[in-house]
Amino acid sequence: MKKPAKTVTLTDNSTGKQIELPVVTGSLGAPAIDIGRLYRDFGYLSYDPSFASTASCRSTITFIDGDKGQLLYRGHPIEKLARENSFTEVTYLLLYGELPEAHQRQRFTAQLRRHSMINEGLKGFFRAFYHDAHPMASMVGVVGAMSAYYHDVTDIRNPEHREIAAHRLIAKLPTIAAGCHKRAVGEPFVYPDNSLSYCGNLLHMMFSVPCEDYVVEPVAEEALDMIFTLHADHEQNASTSTVRLAGSSGANPFACIASGITALWGRAHGGANEAVLEMLDEIGTVSNIPRYLERARDRDDPFRLMGFGHRVYRNHDPRARIIRTMCHKVLERLGDINDPAFELALRLEEIALQEDYFIERKLYPNVDFYSGLIYRALGIPRNMFTVMFAVARTVGWVAQWQEMMDDPQQRIGRPRQIYVGAKSR
Ligand code: SDX
Repeated sequence: MKKPAKTVTLTDNSTGKQIELPVVTGSLGAPAIDIGRLYRDFGYLSYDPSFASTASCRSTITFIDGDKGQLLYRGHPIEKLARENSFTEVTYLLLYGELPEAHQRQRFTAQLRRHSMINEGLKGFFRAFYHDAHPMASMVGVVGAMSAYYHDVTDIRNPEHREIAAHRLIAKLPTIAAGCHKRAVGEPFVYPDNSLSYCGNLLHMMFSVPCEDYVVEPVAEEALDMIFTLHADHEQNASTSTVRLAGSSGANPFACIASGITALWGRAHGGANEAVLEMLDEIGTVSNIPRYLERARDRDDPFRLMGFGHRVYRNHDPRARIIRTMCHKVLERLGDINDPAFELALRLEEIALQEDYFIERKLYPNVDFYSGLIYRALGIPRNMFTVMFAVARTVGWVAQWQEMMDDPQQRIGRPRQIYVGAKSR
């Protein structure tokens, strides 16, 4: 093996033993020390329980520069994609690496439409759930059950099977999400209408009822399409890492995406958009903001400012800025531009960003801070906010799963541990 261009040397100060480790450099971002041989050659494990300094893979899909507040999908800035491209075009970009030509976009759209219905047997699952089950619970159940219906494409070694499963997941998630909502509100399941756009169809399946005509509101369709683009992928976040780890064992893609949905549900991750609205309701008025900022600063108080902070961004989350602008437009056109929750959110952001506590820790609003306000203005119930996030992020999960499965060096992920339990007794 030719000598790597750059190396670092580790010295064990207790024995003087040294080890030289190769440095791996990507096309953008921090260099990495390849510690693959650390335990075998040096007898040490590395310890990084929340993976704050650990790269789990090489990827060509998404890049975040946390210091600059930059987000690229296949090298394209998120601001440009959100402004100029549809979610379906961004989906194609994340899956295939390039924005589609017109004929590719048409063929891809037709392919997704062909798979938009779910097997009639799957519909029975919705009725089986308790009437007021959280839609995320129903979604986990139905997506996991997909492998009991679409097992004709679960030979994950077959690239064609992987592509059909990918298309099925992306095409059916909106239908399943809408089914979870309809079960929660006690209304009849609505079939997809393939004359509509991806997001228009989701709104149709969520809000149309048999007794009245339903027309998709263009501003709602545009807002949802852009929000989905912003939520589509985000490097190796908790849910994407869960999908990759599940996939590394050879689990079928439906099971892997179901595992991603479970990880996304947590309040520290995708569940934050729902928690932001709960927090704004609890704060209530601008005059209460100082008291809640005090609670956020208090280490003994579990209260956190939901929608603020990020493991990677140490600058503004570019997605939050785009959503804030879109929020203003949607409230002006659809909601209540004087929505007290929006006013409160704007003031909370303004006041928090002047507080030393937030400045020192570089805590800025993240993607979840404003998205819930738009969802609410679109008439989407609060318990469906994370479901919407899951629909959009399925594209990133599937793209990352495909990339992992295409990697000839892919092996099962198997972290080690530091044992602190009882010695042999
Ligand atoms: C998403 O990873 C991704 O890319 C995720 C995501 C994606 O697209 O996939 O971007 C989507 O999950 C966005 C994040 C949504 N979550 C929230 O909004 C929940 C509130 N945020 C926090 O829970 C927190 O900021 C996290 C979970 C987002 C990040 O956690 P970290 O990186 O582990 O940060 P930390 O807990 O180490 O915090 C560092 C310091 C601590 O204070 P000190 O111990 O240094 O005194 O900052 C404080 C924390 O107490 N802090 C906060 C805070 N976030 C961090 N204090 C008050 N309010 C907050 N929101």
